[in-house]
Amino acid sequence: MKKIKMGMIGGGIGAFIGDAHRRASRICNDYELVGGVFDVDYEKSKEFAVMEGISLDRCYKSVDALIKAELAMPAKERMEVIAIVTPNALHFPFAKKFLNNGFHLVCEKPMTITVKEALELERLVAKNKLTFALTHTYTGYPMVRQMRDLIAKGVLGTIQRIDAQYYQGWINAIIHGGGTRITGVWRLDPKHAGASSCMGDIGVHAFNLIEYTTGLEVKEILSDLNSVKDGIKLDLDGTVLLRFSKKLKGVIRASQVCGGLENDITISVYGSKASLRWGQENPNYLYMFSDSEPIKVYKPAHTYNGKLAEEGHTMPSGHPEGIYEALANIYKGAAKSIRKQKFNPAEFPTVHDGVRGMKFIHAVVNSNTKGNTWVKI
Ligand SMILES: NC(=O)c1ccc[n+]([C@@H]2O[C@H](COP(=O)([O-])OP(=O)(O)OC[C@H]3O[C@@H](n4cnc5c(N)ncnc54)[C@H](O)[C@@H]3O)[C@@H](O)[C@H]2O)c1
Repeated sequence: MKKIKMGMIGGGIGAFIGDAHRRASRICNDYELVGGVFDVDYEKSKEFAVMEGISLDRCYKSVDALIKAELAMPAKERMEVIAIVTPNALHFPFAKKFLNNGFHLVCEKPMTITVKEALELERLVAKNKLTFALTHTYTGYPMVRQMRDLIAKGVLGTIQRIDAQYYQGWINAIIHGGGTRITGVWRLDPKHAGASSCMGDIGVHAFNLIEYTTGLEVKEILSDLNSVKDGIKLDLDGTVLLRFSKKLKGVIRASQVCGGLENDITISVYGSKASLRWGQENPNYLYMFSDSEPIKVYKPAHTYNGKLAEEGHTMPSGHPEGIYEALANIYKGAAKSIRKQKFNPAEFPTVHDGVRGMKFIHAVVNSNTKGNTWVKI
């Protein structure tokens, strides 16, 4: 099948997530990266294009130059989809331009800086009938999809508690010294990151994972955030109480200063009959607990899994797949949508999930600012 021509904004030499996007788009085999604006510095962007074997004719100085040149090409040569993998504050202005000019998008989270911007993107996607995939990467893991499937089938009975945790420790080296990392530090600067560091960068993944796996919406939250050290402008740690309904509550705990922890995102959904737990550092194991049976472990590539979970694993059982394949599953779903093929809405998070994420981040910041009060989402 003809490859979908893709452009990329950001993701140049040394950038973190752009590289994962390129690998994912190759793994699913539906895309061909043909150009982009890979770096804020044009010289570095060209250096990257040469390294990747991308024609310098399509290594553009700016997003405006890219749009103008690509629209001047015959439709069958033109980029159809753009991956936006820049720091947060640039997602909205770039996404708006692309949507207004008919390009499909794969966009990084958090989708925007404000709720107003998020709603504007949602309106433009609907108006222009375009595909918008938001890369909440963890939803691409087969065992997360299996968790969603089991919950939808009612296997847990009545859901009575939901806990998600996302703990990292890498910011310690930045705020206390001793670290060598220079990329990604923009996360501490409101100008680039938005209203939150910890909740905007990782808490929002936990929030998305809860709504994705359970199909439930968080209605109200109460947060307690911590910037950890004087002079730090944004939260680096926090706890958020969640209310789904009068009788269903939960919690999100997130931190960037848990010394030594790496990328510890876990979700537990506790029901009246059984409970499920999944963690991304061991992503091919989904645990089910019940009072009447020994612990059950679901793994990918077995016929006992649901269809979506099974389709998300390509090798036979026992061959572990991970983060690149999870992201590739999101790219695969987006490709089906771009090609107007049939797809399951659970195959990729959308602009609506982006709106939910921005409402969550802003509710969390508001609750904390107002002295830890309950805030509706
Ligand atoms: N889905 C995930 O699991 C996940 C993981 C990491 C990062 N992210 C998100 O991805 C985005 C990028 O994060 P990162 O860690 O890769 O950042 P990074 O700092 O490593 O890379 C950012 C890239 O954007 C480029 N850039 C900056 N301004 C630009 C401009 N005006 N035009 C073109 N390129 C420009 C930089 O030169 C760099 O190449 C963030 O929104 C972040 O929240 C998501």
